[in-house]
Amino acid sequence: MSGVSESLESAAREARGHAHAPYSGFRVGAAIEGEDGSVHIGCNVENASYGLTICAERSAVGAAVAIGLRRFRRLVIVTDADPPVAPCGACRQVLAEFGPGLEILSIGSIARREWRLAELLPDAFGADALKRDVPRLRETP
Ligand code: THU
Repeated sequence: MSGVSESLESAAREARGHAHAPYSGFRVGAAIEGEDGSVHIGCNVENASYGLTICAERSAVGAAVAIGLRRFRRLVIVTDADPPVAPCGACRQVLAEFGPGLEILSIGSIARREWRLAELLPDAFGADALKRDVPRLRETP
């Protein structure tokens, strides 16, 4: 990903430090950049009722949407995995709500990998299928 800011990476790293992952021990931090350049963070939040776990990526998107954002440039994920992980299927679908062009950078313990969301979730289900005119999403790349 060209031009990924160190602040996005360090924000994701810091969020990872707040991960609540006592069951899996797999700590994930995420930071998403809005089109205005603002940075919004998330971490995974596990639960004793395992299925209620929230991934870091969805946590970050929720934080950004909650302050009124709908358009995003890039997402950075930090884990200690090698090779670096791609977002899970559920998170891909949630991210796709806001456009297929999102750049995703995953930073692991050794390597880095990057994708466009459309590579990870081709033919995504979306608002078009529901024949809904969702304001501001149509313009998203
Ligand atoms: N997890 C994420 O936060 N993001 C991903 O992309 C994959 C998985 C979390 C969920 C759970 O807390 C832990 O990692 C192990 O699955």
